[in-house]
Amino acid sequence: MQIGLILVGFGNVARRFVRLLDERAARLEGEHDLTWRVIGIATRRHGAVRDLDGVDLTRALESADAGKSLGAHGESARDPLTSLFIRETVAAARQRTPDTPVVMVETTVLDIERGQPAIDHVRAALESGAHVISANKGPVAFAAHELLDVAARHGRAFFFEGAVMDGIPVFNLLRETLPAVSITGFRGVVNSTTNYIITAMEQGGEFGAALAAMQEAGVAEADASFDVDGWDAAAKTAALINVLMDGDVTPHAIDRTGIRGLTGEAVRGAVARDRRVRLVASAAWRDGRLAGRVAPEELPATDLLATLAGQQNALVLQTDLLGEIAIVQRGAGLTQTAYALLSDLVAVRRRL
Ligand SMILES: NC(=O)c1ccc[n+]([C@@H]2O[C@H](COP(=O)([O-])OP(=O)(O)OC[C@H]3O[C@@H](n4cnc5c(N)ncnc54)[C@H](OP(=O)(O)O)[C@@H]3O)[C@@H](O)[C@H]2O)c1
Repeated sequence: MQIGLILVGFGNVARRFVRLLDERAARLEGEHDLTWRVIGIATRRHGAVRDLDGVDLTRALESADAGKSLGAHGESARDPLTSLFIRETVAAARQRTPDTPVVMVETTVLDIERGQPAIDHVRAALESGAHVISANKGPVAFAAHELLDVAARHGRAFFFEGAVMDGIPVFNLLRETLPAVSITGFRGVVNSTTNYIITAMEQGGEFGAALAAMQEAGVAEADASFDVDGWDAAAKTAALINVLMDGDVTPHAIDRTGIRGLTGEAVRGAVARDRRVRLVASAAWRDGRLAGRVAPEELPATDLLATLAGQQNALVLQTDLLGEIAIVQRGAGLTQTAYALLSDLVAVRRRL
């Protein structure tokens, strides 16, 4: 079955995603009866392109890699009102090939004030009949319940595995393999950039140089203060609370301290005491209230979270039936995030 893809955002993650689809094309078709064509791409400053017969991806990737506008290819729209672009593209595609499902891939940047305009993008796609997969945590951190309701009302899927711990199954794990289990709390290291900085400082490295390495690798957020000040971890904590614990919070409700004030001396001092500093994201019920927290904590060296080096992440889920379940991500990077989208796309295909 062929799926029409609309890429909203065409940065590091989306470009790695389409290349990964190409690399895995034979397996996707052979094992999952899944082929695709990209029918639209929208960006913020680099124009948009729509071609229901299939956007010329080689040219689009070349243009985007070179920082040029996409507008020269196919039917173009400069500075699109993205939600309108989504609605028009889905409508045109469904009219022309009603049997070809459309999936909108949301990879625009995180807006930590309100999660916008990504929430509008997701709503526009679902309301016009597309499924949605997203690596952007904004929609699920700010509006998980509303958007899952819209998806259910329209009989469409809204998946967001890449929002937390890249391609490692967190949301899928619960949804697909842990029926009737309740999550009562969690603690984890969920931001790769800050863990890389902290563990570089343990080895005597400089904060600034370690951050620059993560920016160079395309792993740091577009606005790296989101990583350093704990906002990215707070958004992930809110997403986990909303989806895994049926909470209703935004990142602003998370008690948040970043690592900006953390010095090499403090980090190395902890190592000398056989302890480790880690930026810990957690949630627990306190006094009948679901409380989320992000803060640097000094942990015993034997704590699972203390053993995470570089970009590694881990999440320890407290459950009512199975005790603690830990998920560890030893390799993190763009391919893992792109893989989260690939796995969500296969999950959509399975639903069709
Ligand atoms: N990088 C990672 O390792 C990683 C890991 C997990 C999750 N994520 C999440 O994945 C998302 C994408 O990350 P990235 O590294 O690919 O970011 P990026 O390289 O900065 O790309 C963002 C893309 O979104 C476009 N965009 C921004 N606002 C838009 C709007 N209103 N309408 C249409 N397009 C818009 C940008 O267009 P212009 O270039 O024209 O401005 C750009 O193409 C983010 O939400 C991030 O938090 C990233």
